[in-house]
Amino acid sequence: MPWRETKNPYHIVVSEIMLQQTQVERVMKKYPLFIKKFPSFQVLAWASRARVLAVWQGLGYNRRALALQKIAHIVVNEYKGALPSDHELLQKMPGIGKATAGSVATFAFNRPIPFIETNIRRVYIHFFFAKKRKVNDAEILPLVLRTMDLKNPREWFFALMDYGSMLGEKMKTNPNKKSAHYMRQPKFEGSRRQLRGNILKTLLTRRMGLEDLAKQLSRPTTKIAKILYTLERDGLIQRKENIFSV
Ligand code: ADE
Repeated sequence: MPWRETKNPYHIVVSEIMLQQTQVERVMKKYPLFIKKFPSFQVLAWASRARVLAVWQGLGYNRRALALQKIAHIVVNEYKGALPSDHELLQKMPGIGKATAGSVATFAFNRPIPFIETNIRRVYIHFFFAKKRKVNDAEILPLVLRTMDLKNPREWFFALMDYGSMLGEKMKTNPNKKSAHYMRQPKFEGSRRQLRGNILKTLLTRRMGLEDLAKQLSRPTTKIAKILYTLERDGLIQRKENIFSV
């Protein structure tokens, strides 16, 4: 995994945002291209939204691309281009929650910050909560703190993630089913999320009106209209005189 060969904070942030909801294999295909097109916080901050979204295509959950660009704006405008290493400051940034703040502080700055994501959760449930159901992350976090390697947290958390990933693949019963936070990824085929992605993809090729979009995607205008509204609300598209564009 190329993001494990670097401590460049920009590269780490890009990879961690991508890895939030997308599997390693798919991130591996997109990450090198994204870094090539946008090699720094500065370049990403100056790029057009349409170009960022175009390069992001294939990863899904497009709001993450906007969040990443907003992070770039903040780093350039408020931190003189240098990402802060403090996880509390990181957590204030768009698209960065507890887990991502912890992973960035750990992987970019080798700071021992305990955090929980899906792979890490599996390891602790497997070892410490074999008989329990509805395990809360609040019960796991103190164990992460007490067990972690304070001298080399970076390597420690990489190893934990690999172990957890193996537990997910190889075990008949995924330990995370016993997490109070357990959620399966919803089905993508035929979902609203898929249509949302397709509308955005279509609008990246050219600007279009509602009727035109509905015809192109062979879907009812009412359905398209509702999704256009949410895309506009989320800042992914804009409307000018009933013509939609990225
Ligand atoms: N491998 C799997 N998930 C990862 C992550 N979030 N960061 C680094 N390596 C990973």
